[in-house]
Amino acid sequence: MKSSGIIAAAAILVLPSLAMAADKPAAPAAAQPVLSPTAKGKALASDVNKGNCLACHMMADGEVPGNFGPPLSQMKERYPDKAALHKQISDATILNPKSIMPPFGKHGVLTDSEIDQIIEYLYTL
Ligand code: HEC
Repeated sequence: MKSSGIIAAAAILVLPSLAMAADKPAAPAAAQPVLSPTAKGKALASDVNKGNCLACHMMADGEVPGNFGPPLSQMKERYPDKAALHKQISDATILNPKSIMPPFGKHGVLTDSEIDQIIEYLYTL
């Protein structure tokens, strides 16, 4: 009796967490709003399938940065105009037709709102 009671109690403790684990794949949309725009922007900037900005730019807290592009620092001071920064990220060839920086917006790699989130992150650098 006693041990089956313990098993029942253990099942009560374990089952809800199993149910929660099973829910996880369906839940990421609900979990996303917890991330701030800055945190999302940072994730996008270092994601090789998204911004991959680190491949070419040094960014303060990024690991293994590349140096094809200039270091991204003092962004708020140097780019007080968010629209200009948006343009550079969306299509660098507007400002420099020979730019090797991929036109992320023009190519649809990043949406406008993803670029805005990256800008929020860049403003912390
Ligand atoms: C393939 C390399 C490459 C990648 C990837 C890349 N850039 Fe660039 N970026 C450059 C180069 C080169 C320049 C220098 C100016 C030019 O050629 O347009 C530059 C310039 C810039 C500038 C202007 C810097 C300044 O000091 O004025 C910003 C801002 C910028 N990049 C942001 C980004 C962001 C944000 C990402 C990721 C979404 C990114 N870049 C990804 C190569 C890259």
